[in-house]
Amino acid sequence: MGEALERAAQVLDRARRVVAFTGAGISAESGIPTFRDPGGLWAHFRPEEVATAEAFERDPDRVWAWYQQRRRVIEAAQPNPGHYALAAMEPYFEEFTVVTQNVDRLHHRAGSHHVIELHGTLLEYHCHRCGRPYTEEPLPAETAPYCPVCGGRIRPSVVWFGELLPAAAFAAAEQAVDRCEVLLSIGTSGEVYPAAGLVWRAKAMGATVVEINPAPSELSTAADILIRQKAGSALPELVRRLQQYRQQARP
Ligand code: APR
Repeated sequence: MGEALERAAQVLDRARRVVAFTGAGISAESGIPTFRDPGGLWAHFRPEEVATAEAFERDPDRVWAWYQQRRRVIEAAQPNPGHYALAAMEPYFEEFTVVTQNVDRLHHRAGSHHVIELHGTLLEYHCHRCGRPYTEEPLPAETAPYCPVCGGRIRPSVVWFGELLPAAAFAAAEQAVDRCEVLLSIGTSGEVYPAAGLVWRAKAMGATVVEINPAPSELSTAADILIRQKAGSALPELVRRLQQYRQQARP
């Protein structure tokens, strides 16, 4: 295991532009359930029941209540050493971009400055009909509010299955991926596209791909380096080794 970490630290030491592509696994140690791990969210609910526009249009209150329950978990959670380690990496590179599938904003709370949210966020809301942002507080727990302008129902600003990813965010992610020399794939099963396609894109552009995940994923075959550890321990160790490299006198 140490050998993979050492190789990852070496490629990071030589890199100027890095992308950290993250999934639910980086927030697991903050107590936020993942989707596809045993006992994860999709073990208890089918995505088409709670995470599609059709589900919301069919039963807005059921979908609303499910997301409010998740929001309470997210707001009670704290960033973990994995999030903080990514924030600590930023100053070591010309460009360090976090491209996340997560909707919990823990990267922001940990201090990362360049975060691209591919799947939106659970901490913002808008009208499902007219799209206007909705900021009234407090949010009801069980019933989706009505838009004060058009009367449509208010929804969380997350991307549901079958919906397009925010075009500007995805374009910015592609640009960061095309330029990076190293892509860290952290805590993601790599099962959901188009997000997971970014890792293959980085590889095709010649980046070194490092996977940090205690278990194999759909992206493991894209990885040049496999670190079979939890993000909360592997990432701080990577930062420690990178600091050592960077402090060594350079010829
Ligand atoms: N550290 C690193 N990785 C971890 C940890 C940990 N402590 N704990 C679990 N993992 C890994 C699992 O092995 C798994 O590969 O995190 C991954 C979580 O996979 P998913 O639950 O599928 O989450 P994710 O890949 O983010 O899902 C992508 O699917 O449901 C949609 O929109 C949702 O953004 C989500 C997308």
